[in-house]
Amino acid sequence: MTKPYLAQRVATLKPSGIRKFFDIVATMKDVISLGIGEPDFATPDSITQAGIASLQRGETHYTSNSGLLELRQTLAAHLERHHGVSYDPVSEIVITVGVSEALYLAMTAILNPGEEVLIPTPCFVAYQPEVILAGGTPVEIPSRMEDNFQPNLEALRGAVTPRTKAILIGYPNNPTGAVASRDTLLEVLKIAEEHDLVVISDEIYDRLVYGPAHVSFAALPGARERTITLGGFSKDYAMTGWRIGYAAAPAEILQGLLRIHQFTIMSAPTTAQSAALVALQIGESYVEEMRAEYDRRRKLIVGGLNRLGLPTFEPLGAFYAFPKISLADMDDESFAQLLLEEERVAVVPGSAFGAGGEGFVRCSYATAYEKIEEALHRIERFMHRHG
Ligand SMILES: Cc1ncc(COP(=O)(O)O)c(C=O)c1O
Repeated sequence: MTKPYLAQRVATLKPSGIRKFFDIVATMKDVISLGIGEPDFATPDSITQAGIASLQRGETHYTSNSGLLELRQTLAAHLERHHGVSYDPVSEIVITVGVSEALYLAMTAILNPGEEVLIPTPCFVAYQPEVILAGGTPVEIPSRMEDNFQPNLEALRGAVTPRTKAILIGYPNNPTGAVASRDTLLEVLKIAEEHDLVVISDEIYDRLVYGPAHVSFAALPGARERTITLGGFSKDYAMTGWRIGYAAAPAEILQGLLRIHQFTIMSAPTTAQSAALVALQIGESYVEEMRAEYDRRRKLIVGGLNRLGLPTFEPLGAFYAFPKISLADMDDESFAQLLLEEERVAVVPGSAFGAGGEGFVRCSYATAYEKIEEALHRIERFMHRHG
């Protein structure tokens, strides 16, 4: 028998439930996609022009491993202004290839083999695989709609073992749209302090909120020293394809992330760094414009789904609605499959986002208002047929 060439942790990794679904969508015509997890807006033109200008100035070389100093300085000022948390741009920030890389760095830097990471779910599809790839064990803590998809604190506390190393949270949340309240985050911090855990806080949707302001975990009293903050440009500034994000943490932790970044990536794309700098410098009005449009669509889709008998929690952040499937004999996978086949509307089964997502589907409203209106008409027909 030939030796298995792939490492066991890679060979046993399940492919993303989202990808599987999109492979089918790609073969179909006239589909309205509520499945996409990225802004439908193009990057604001002034930001794009900054990338082009950087190339034209001949900035086609590596930057410092940590990223352009001016970008880190501007980012530090931005985080201080918006979230009240201060990081030293020289030793406490690394510019990464999106939050995707930042997650990889954080997990690889902190985990010893077999250490556990507690993850409130449903969550972004990469969280569990990133823990596994770093040699750790993800432990899912399902959240409930009845609790407004806040982390289940009792279950979180009950899941701590001597092997627990960290808690990984992502609010505003993909896929539920939940924003964690300050009180809930303080309770999460208490658990982390009681058991001396690291907290990794993915705040990629920090500026896309529609109610109370986002609370950055590291800004809570006493939290900063144990927190790795992950953030980016993909969602707030509609820059997914530029592949740019960051991690910020106390120097001792950050230098660990930087060591891995140095040997795997070298430096984030130079063009994207120049564009990100301009995004921070002049992007505020664009963020506000896009946020206002998402909010308009949010009201349309949440109201519409609830009217159609699909109970939907009010999302206060990101750009997702997460209705509960109320049809007998239909789970989230079959609902998504049939809705796609019969009405050509793509949504993502909630179970793709881990335990706690079963029985729900994710509908992205990063899609034009008129398309959401048409999707709601089609879902209405579907519900009449099956209700
Ligand atoms: C919660 C969350 N974190 C991270 C990412 C990855 O973002 P990036 O484009 O910065 O790698 C996404 C993308 O969908 C996300 O939803």
